[in-house]
Amino acid sequence: MNYNIRKVTLEDIPIIWKMGKDVPFFETAEDIITFWPESVLNDCVDKEDVLFLVMEVENKILGFIIGNINNSLKKCEVENIFIVPEYRKQGYARILLKDLIQQLRTRGIENICAMSEGSVVDFYKKNNFTKGNQFYWMDLALSDRFKKEVNKWLLKIFVRRDKKTTVSHLLKKWI
Ligand SMILES: CC(C)(COP(=O)(O)OP(=O)(O)OC[C@H]1O[C@@H](n2cnc3c(N)ncnc32)[C@H](O)[C@@H]1OP(=O)(O)O)[C@@H](O)C(=O)NCCC(=O)NCCS
Repeated sequence: MNYNIRKVTLEDIPIIWKMGKDVPFFETAEDIITFWPESVLNDCVDKEDVLFLVMEVENKILGFIIGNINNSLKKCEVENIFIVPEYRKQGYARILLKDLIQQLRTRGIENICAMSEGSVVDFYKKNNFTKGNQFYWMDLALSDRFKKEVNKWLLKIFVRRDKKTTVSHLLKKWI
């Protein structure tokens, strides 16, 4: 298996965002956007508290993993792990997760957790995670970037702007 695992760069973000934005499992609540806003992903590049790795084969990105690190608590949560469908079931996610775990060990992290459901539980179990208690995910968006409805309206505004309709014109129509 010829692959390369490296830290994410700014140039990778549009590709990663396209991969993640429609993944049903990444949705945590109806009114919260499904994946991270692209601008937030950009902010994760080269940061101490995020271990964001991409995996590539022949210079093509086939997956990624995002670890959310808390150094004080010695803990990391796997926020997302993703492999493009045509490369699944070939052991790539296992390798990516192993690499993340190894890097976390060297940073002194002592506990790793992940949210999981359905068959993905088996993926984590096969990678030595223990299935823990079940909880409800509780979300509260403090910024419009994370609110699905607002994002839908913004999209509409942009589409209509392309059709030479101004934002103020639209607001007048709606209010
Ligand atoms: C979950 C995911 C990352 C697994 O990727 P993958 O490259 O297919 O996984 P691997 O091939 O490395 O699998 C490793 C082991 O887990 C098992 N496994 C992987 N995905 C599984 C699944 N969905 N259900 C059951 N077992 C699974 C494999 O059978 C393999 O075990 P084996 O070696 O005994 O055969 C991939 O299915 C994916 O991107 N899903 C969409 C995003 C997602 O749900 N992410 C997880 C939560 S953030």
